[in-house]
This record gives sequence, C-alpha cells and structure tokens, in this order.
Amino acid sequence: MSDFTLFLGKFLKQGTAIASLAPSSPWLSRATVRNIDWTAARVIVELGAGTGPITRVLAAKALPGCRVVVLERDPDFCRLLHERFTGRTGLDVVEGDVRDLTAILADRGIGQADYIVSGLPVPSFPRDLQQALFRVVRQVLRPEGAFNQITELPWVYLRFYRKYFEDVQFVFEPRNLPPAGAYFCRRVKPIA
Ligand SMILES: C[S@@+](CC[C@H](N)C(=O)[O-])C[C@H]1O[C@@H](n2cnc3c(N)ncnc32)[C@H](O)[C@@H]1O
Repeated sequence: MSDFTLFLGKFLKQGTAIASLAPSSPWLSRATVRNIDWTAARVIVELGAGTGPITRVLAAKALPGCRVVVLERDPDFCRLLHERFTGRTGLDVVEGDVRDLTAILADRGIGQADYIVSGLPVPSFPRDLQQALFRVVRQVLRPEGAFNQITELPWVYLRFYRKYFEDVQFVFEPRNLPPAGAYFCRRVKPIA
C-alpha cells in the first residue's frame, strides 16, 4: 500500500486526529526543519510523524551525536516508521501519546530537547489536549529551543500560536499540495 493510500484511509477513519489528506511533501518537510542548527542540535523530538516524511529529513541531516526521538500514536504508522528507520543510530521510534512525552524522554535519559518538530493537528485538538501539549513543550524544550509546527492553512493560526509563544515566525511553502508552511515558535509562555 502506498503512503498516500494508508494516510488517506487513516484520515477517512480518524478525521481531525489526522487532519490532512496526504503526507507532507519533501518541500514542506525540508521547510519545516529549515531553522535547525544541525551542528549544535543534541536532541530533536518529532511529534506525530505519520508515514515519516519529516523523519526522513531528520534522519538524513542530524549529525551522529544528535538523538532523534520520533513519537507517533497510531500503531500502523509506527510499524512503518520502525521498518523505515530502526537501525539508524541515535534515532528512536516510540509508539505513544504526546501527553506522555516527558516520561518517554526521561525513560531514554533525556531531560530537554533543542527542537520539537510537530506534525500534530494542534488546532483540531480539544482545548485540554492543546494545553497539555504546550505544558509538556514548556517542560521539555530548552529555553533557547524552537517548536516547529507544520500547517496546511498558511498564516491562519499565527494568532493562535502567538497566544502560546513570545516569538512566532511563519515560513510559506507553495510547492506542497495544498500550499502549506511551518511556524517557528520560541519562548513558550506559562499556561494559566
Ligand atoms: C497531519 S498528520 C502528520 C504526519 C506527518 N508528520 C506528515 O507531515 O506527513 C498528524 C499525525 O499526528 C498523529 N497524532 C495525532 N494525535 C497524536 C497524539 N496525541 N500523540 C501522538 N501523535 C498524534 C496522527 O496519528 C498523525 O500521524
């Protein structure tokens, strides 16, 4: 089965938990990690990896001393990610929910991450899950780190992410279908 067919099937069954018809294109995947300083990054966490288009870029670009922890909740996507990336030194595929990220990292001896790259459908999450996500980001992201978030609705959620972060920049990627982009968010605010 192709990645597109698997992904579309998941979207038809799970709707807003997937919130996209197709995996991110290579252009969007590269744009989403454009701000990463590969020479300085020691820990990168990917959330909601799906079939792994962004994971592929992380696996190719992360230097040998950098740990990459790839989290995905769906067991079928996880099986595929294991087939594709297990054996890549320093890269760990984990089946689990983002709510448990702090414990998942602690189990691997990791306290904080330099970058969190998210493919999660955050705006479709219920408010309690949004707040749990940003609480966990505040716990595990280094103060100078960045939270990178893909979107298929360019600019629409700028105000939303500015509610949670002091500094939010948007990068547009017109070659994705649909045209898409990524938010680069820094300095997460305290959650009330
Ligand atoms: C829009 S897809 C993005 C997939 C991939 N990153 C890409 O760019 O093509 C969102 C992914 O987030 C996963 N996901 C949704 N809720 C999650 C949660 N609470 N914890 C972990 N993963 C979750 C879904 O299973 C899905 O694979």
